[in-house]
Amino acid sequence: PPVEAFDLVIFGGTGDLAVRKLLPGLFHRYTDGQIRPGSRIIGVARDALGESEYRERVRAAVEKGAGDEAKNGDAVATFLELVDYVALDARKDAGWAQFAQKLALTPERVCVFYLATSPEIFVEICERLREHGLNTGQVRVVVEKPIGRDLASAAAINDAVGRSFGEHQTFRIDHYLGKETVQNLIALRFGNALFEPLWNAEHIDNVQITVAESIGVEIRGAFYDGAGALRDMVQNHLLQLLCMVAMEPPASLAPDAIRDEKLKVLRALKPIDESNAAQLSVRGQYRAGASNGGAVPGYLEEIGKRESRTETFVALKAEVRNWRWAGVPFYLRTGKRMPERVSEIVITFRAIPHSIFTEQAGPIFANKLVIRLQPDEGVKLMVMNKYPGPGGLRLREVALDMSFAETFGVRYPEAYERLLMDVVRGNPTLFMRRDEVEAAWAWADPILKAWEGMQDGPKPYTAGTWGPSAAVALIERDGRNWHEDGY
Ligand code: BG6
Repeated sequence: PPVEAFDLVIFGGTGDLAVRKLLPGLFHRYTDGQIRPGSRIIGVARDALGESEYRERVRAAVEKGAGDEAKNGDAVATFLELVDYVALDARKDAGWAQFAQKLALTPERVCVFYLATSPEIFVEICERLREHGLNTGQVRVVVEKPIGRDLASAAAINDAVGRSFGEHQTFRIDHYLGKETVQNLIALRFGNALFEPLWNAEHIDNVQITVAESIGVEIRGAFYDGAGALRDMVQNHLLQLLCMVAMEPPASLAPDAIRDEKLKVLRALKPIDESNAAQLSVRGQYRAGASNGGAVPGYLEEIGKRESRTETFVALKAEVRNWRWAGVPFYLRTGKRMPERVSEIVITFRAIPHSIFTEQAGPIFANKLVIRLQPDEGVKLMVMNKYPGPGGLRLREVALDMSFAETFGVRYPEAYERLLMDVVRGNPTLFMRRDEVEAAWAWADPILKAWEGMQDGPKPYTAGTWGPSAAVALIERDGRNWHEDGY
């Protein structure tokens, strides 16, 4: 439903996130009638731009990022009327008083400050907002990742934001939680009676979570080299997916009902540290290779350095130590420059306890539930079937296959669209609470520390492959394989 007119201020309004995701997403929400006339979208950045120059940038962003809907010139033009720009430097006093004046906050009107800047200035922005009285009333702040680079720095950011904004005003975004398929996990698990009785160590053999990207680090080398895949992807996105799979049924959809359950999962993760990191984790870094049919440079060439121990690939064997999951491995892997962009969660059930079939029937595979996050969102259930015809009972693995695009025939909104409107509505269910972020860091820190202490850096892998061979060994050692989709 449409909400009252509101103000959304994007710090980092000329930046990559605003241009690629936020502004096209807002345009979609606008054309869907969720953003009322009278709302304001105010870009803030240091660049000395005029309002009309900024609007032209927004127009270009929308035309590039909002697909067919942006072909409606009238819609784009009326959307641009909501857009404004303020040149402001978070590190300097100048301009803040005028900015506050321009905003003219009122107690009833919702105002969202989106921190889409580099994280070094989150704290200063929050302080300035407080100094100028911009932290009270219906004010909310959205904090983008990375929230810190370890537990201590994350806690420092959370403390600093907390000096200006209450927890109920603070929306820590993990855009994976806004993906339709991730929310669909809640529908699948708790809207069906079929899966939940089987959703435990007694019936599930292992869980695999793969988030593979075909892109390299592109223009983000400077940031990425100080982070790496564990901080960039695992500490947040992959762990959030793991939580959605592993959490206990929440009592309701209330924000804290879900977040409490996720927190319990994070706290139940088996520690990976110096004692076991060599067995339970694999790091990789891509070398030159081929991707999308063309030659691509290696990581070091891409970032212009001679050496770096930053990982662009991680595979881990995690475990949730509670009654439901004890002994079930959660294999996680993510990497840049993989053969394709694919994210999926694969639940492999246990094998049948006894086979009544002869050898001619062929191998019997364990059932699998494959939840595909991207591309072609959907759910598949792999089951054994009789191959048709009179040639005896021959078995084949077949997919009960549901593609969301075919089933629902609607456009799948981008994660940010949903999340932005949730902030405006004040619904934090799909945002990370402070304790969740810190629990995730508390688990990630010892892994990073263990890696630092190792003599070897990440293992090389050729761009366009599934990571170093050690990642295959990690799972094969347990007599299992990474799921391959050949159907
Ligand atoms: C971001 C990471 O959080 O997620 C990027 O910083 C990564 O490195 C991106 O490319 C992936 O998001 P998506 O939605 O394209 O899977």
